[in-house]
Amino acid sequence: MNRNVIIFDTTLRDGEQAPGCSMNLQEKLEVAKRLEKLGVDVMEAGFPASSPGDLESVRAIAGLVRGCVVAGLARSLEKDIDAAREALTDAVSPRVHIFLATSPVHMKYKLKMTPGQVLEQAASSVRYAKKFCDDVEFSAEDAFRSDPDFVCKVFGAALKAGARTVNFPDTVGYAIPAEFGARIKYVKEHTPRMEKARLSVHCHNDLGLAVANSIAALENGADQVECTINGIGERAGNASLEELVMAIRVRRDYFSADTRIDSTQIYAASRLVSQATGVKLQPNKAIVGDNAFAHEAGIHQHGVMVKRETYEIMSPESIGIPQNRIVLGKHSGRHAFEVRLEEMGLSADDETLELVFAQFKDLADKKKTVSDRDIEALVMGAAAAAPETWKLDHWAVNTGSALGASGAIRLRHRDGEFKKLVSMGDGPVDAIFRAINKIVGREPELELYEIGAITGGSSSQGETMVKISWEGGHWNGRGVSTDVLESSIKAYLSAINSMEWELASRKDAARKGNTARPPAGRIRR
Ligand code: KIV
Ligand code: ZN
Repeated sequence: MNRNVIIFDTTLRDGEQAPGCSMNLQEKLEVAKRLEKLGVDVMEAGFPASSPGDLESVRAIAGLVRGCVVAGLARSLEKDIDAAREALTDAVSPRVHIFLATSPVHMKYKLKMTPGQVLEQAASSVRYAKKFCDDVEFSAEDAFRSDPDFVCKVFGAALKAGARTVNFPDTVGYAIPAEFGARIKYVKEHTPRMEKARLSVHCHNDLGLAVANSIAALENGADQVECTINGIGERAGNASLEELVMAIRVRRDYFSADTRIDSTQIYAASRLVSQATGVKLQPNKAIVGDNAFAHEAGIHQHGVMVKRETYEIMSPESIGIPQNRIVLGKHSGRHAFEVRLEEMGLSADDETLELVFAQFKDLADKKKTVSDRDIEALVMGAAAAAPETWKLDHWAVNTGSALGASGAIRLRHRDGEFKKLVSMGDGPVDAIFRAINKIVGREPELELYEIGAITGGSSSQGETMVKISWEGGHWNGRGVSTDVLESSIKAYLSAINSMEWELASRKDAARKGNTARPPAGRIRR
């Protein structure tokens, strides 16, 4: 019988807290639904005490997700645990995840606490959380750089106080696989009460070893691995979920272990996280990178054509990569469109479907053939988009090598009013973005502007990602179009709409005394 490895996903907490990876509420809800469909055992939804926004998003996710444990992170402080309790009220299976550092450098300089105080606080905070939540996890932050016997003592105290899982993080990504494996074995063997509890690991990727260290831990008795989609996370990131899961799945023969993950959902989850965060993947990223299944060398292509297994250890289908088939054209009806979405594992609520179908028709008019990747881009874009405060009506640019560029744009406000403006700029994109800023009456900072092609070839759709910031907040936007300037405008407007929506929701929540409930996400499954 295969041993089950518990997958604890922290994309929405450790992943989302990394610079440049922030998501708005709508995006977090979509990611949460995807993670549930993927089959993660535990989903860490956020760190409720870190901000009112985080508390609200954990609360919304806890109310939405039914199929897995939803965890909220807390420092070992009563006020943090209270915030986690509040945020997890509606969760079917809540978990409070408490952390406290145990390494000499953290205890002395960050916490200014003695080892004795840390030991006492670990136990008392778990006892406090246990009063309302049965499922408590305790993490010894920076465990790998801590004295192993001290970690065993702290873990023993946390278990005695009622923790069900103890987590051993390599917070700064310092460990080497064989060394990490040996440490996990030691902790497992020397922690009192470990027999009935679960041992977890949480590895960071500073030396590019997060997945290897997690695997070494599994080989030495760890029961749970903490990871993120696409490996996003602090600094160099966390262990990547897709790499861990597929290593275990492809090498089941070696590990005699498996996970509950539906691997055919991996690709969609990866794309969604990339689009929601605006963080693109390197082409050669294992499992989900664009080149992960591309065979360039003639000898490899020949081998794969004759017998796939010559150069492929897993199939693209096994992780749910849609074949880039030409599926639909401008004569395809709504029924065929819906059937294709279902085949791709995507569906949307009626309103989103209406919107996406209209966009598909528009695209099919411009492009003779529409591929799976095009459809996926439309659905993902519409699902995670905030309601449109501003909608694009018309645009035009004038540019050349000798003179500066000018951009004219007409937008329609949600209340029906049209606004039109012309602006000069350093180039066509700059000119048109300036015109948009003038209309919306804000001048956000453009932190990132990236443009690429969805399928390759000159008839491909352009895909633009932007990140903007305004008064301490950050928002992502994404746009696709057969015209690269239009995709840029759409991306910028989608970021502006996310910003407007969040600012309006915050105002509304403040007016109602913070009791406003966020809307549910839009992709339906
Ligand atoms: O890296 C770390 O130590 C963490 C803990 C909060 C688990 O993220
Ligand atoms: Zn971490």
